[in-house]
Amino acid sequence: MGKKRLFLINGPNLNMLGKREPDTYGHETLADVTKVVKDTAWEHGYEVEAFQSNHEGDLVDKVQMAEGEAAGIVINPAAYTHTSIALRDAVSAINPPVVEIHISNVHNRDSFRHTSMLAPVCAGQVVGFGIDGYRLATLGVIQKIEREGRNDS
Ligand code: DQA
Repeated sequence: MGKKRLFLINGPNLNMLGKREPDTYGHETLADVTKVVKDTAWEHGYEVEAFQSNHEGDLVDKVQMAEGEAAGIVINPAAYTHTSIALRDAVSAINPPVVEIHISNVHNRDSFRHTSMLAPVCAGQVVGFGIDGYRLATLGVIQKIEREGRNDS
């Protein structure tokens, strides 16, 4: 039997991690983030499919694809966190649990970053621990999957 799969989904501008506002987001790259998630998942018997896009509709398509293809999702929707009803509806439309993660502490930044359209329909949220937050989010989504028995992907 193959390994259970997680989707790691990163939104706009996260392809520029490492170069982008390093005081806020650190010096690690998206490749480092992917490695953190893959290593964490692997320890618990999961494989990871990583996806990044700067386009809202492509992110919606990927969330929808999780139904039947992934046991859970770790997502950093980046700026779409604060604006995207479409992404929220996609999360609501699928069964696999979704954990939202932000590298920075969005709550001590601009007020428009304090609201997440997605958080109310996610299993949980990790905020402000830098890229280590991706490890916590991965552990969180795995725990949610294992507790709910949704490990059929
Ligand atoms: C972010 C926080 C968002 O407000 C911002 O638009 C990002 C990154 C984070 O990981 O801290 O692009 O999601």
